[in-house]
Amino acid sequence: MSLQIENSVALVTGANRGIGKAFVTELLRRGASKIYLGARDPASLGDLVALDPARLVPLKLDVTNAEDVATAAGVAGDVTLLINNAGFAGGQGVVSAPDLAVARQEMEVNYFGVLSLSRAFAPVLAKAPESAIVNILSFLSLVTMPAAGTYSASKAASLAATRSIRAELKAQGTDVVGSMPVQVETDMGRDLPEPRLQPTEVVNDTLDAVEAGREEVFPGELTRNTAAAFADNPKGVQAYMSAMLPA
Ligand SMILES: NC(=O)c1ccc[n+]([C@@H]2O[C@H](COP(=O)([O-])OP(=O)(O)OC[C@H]3O[C@@H](n4cnc5c(N)ncnc54)[C@H](OP(=O)(O)O)[C@@H]3O)[C@@H](O)[C@H]2O)c1
Repeated sequence: MSLQIENSVALVTGANRGIGKAFVTELLRRGASKIYLGARDPASLGDLVALDPARLVPLKLDVTNAEDVATAAGVAGDVTLLINNAGFAGGQGVVSAPDLAVARQEMEVNYFGVLSLSRAFAPVLAKAPESAIVNILSFLSLVTMPAAGTYSASKAASLAATRSIRAELKAQGTDVVGSMPVQVETDMGRDLPEPRLQPTEVVNDTLDAVEAGREEVFPGELTRNTAAAFADNPKGVQAYMSAMLPA
């Protein structure tokens, strides 16, 4: 039996905006009993907690801060669903970037952040009869876009880690779901080519995948069409993406 959202206890990283915020509203709608809202600055959660103060718990959580992560795992010791959503994209090329600062931050958030949260919460999730981790990856986990070359690398690393985490946590009964959307209408995605997915499409298809016990999901019709094209002609899709060079 896979985790069902109704009566689950979720933690969403990067809950204050974009896809993370959409996760919070949909988890509420599907009957999660409690949702921890991770945000670097809890003040940025604004009116979100007021939607349902009995079920929404703000949590100061910078996923790159080891102390924040350890504190979160202590405070949120009843979590059954960890959603690693927080992400950073600096929009830089591999060679043309002025230095490695953005590349390192992308790895810190998108790769080490996922590792850190997954490691801290594995014992918490082990206590529940049904539990799951969701990692919000990207279609760029599979193909690289040179205009966001270092981000693509961080998401590829995160996909590899996701598959290892899944294998390691299988014995304790924690499902691990990787979600790989194409461009989404958020602060991060708004300069990417149209059409773009709505955050709710990502959230709905990803939560459906959790409930169905699926390992990987291409959320939204736009992503599914891209995934079909990639399955048919991976080199062709990579060649198309390779034309998107840094400015
Ligand atoms: N938008 C797209 O086109 C797209 C496509 C595929 C995958 N994704 C992935 O989807 C996820 C959500 O992205 P989004 O589109 O919603 O982007 P967004 O609107 O830019 O939101 C990013 C979120 O991540 C948080 N964050 C960044 N660094 C953090 C850190 N060190 N610790 C904790 N939180 C941190 C941000 O918090 P602050 O407000 O404090 O900065 C914000 O809440 C990311 O993993 C992203 O890579 C996005």
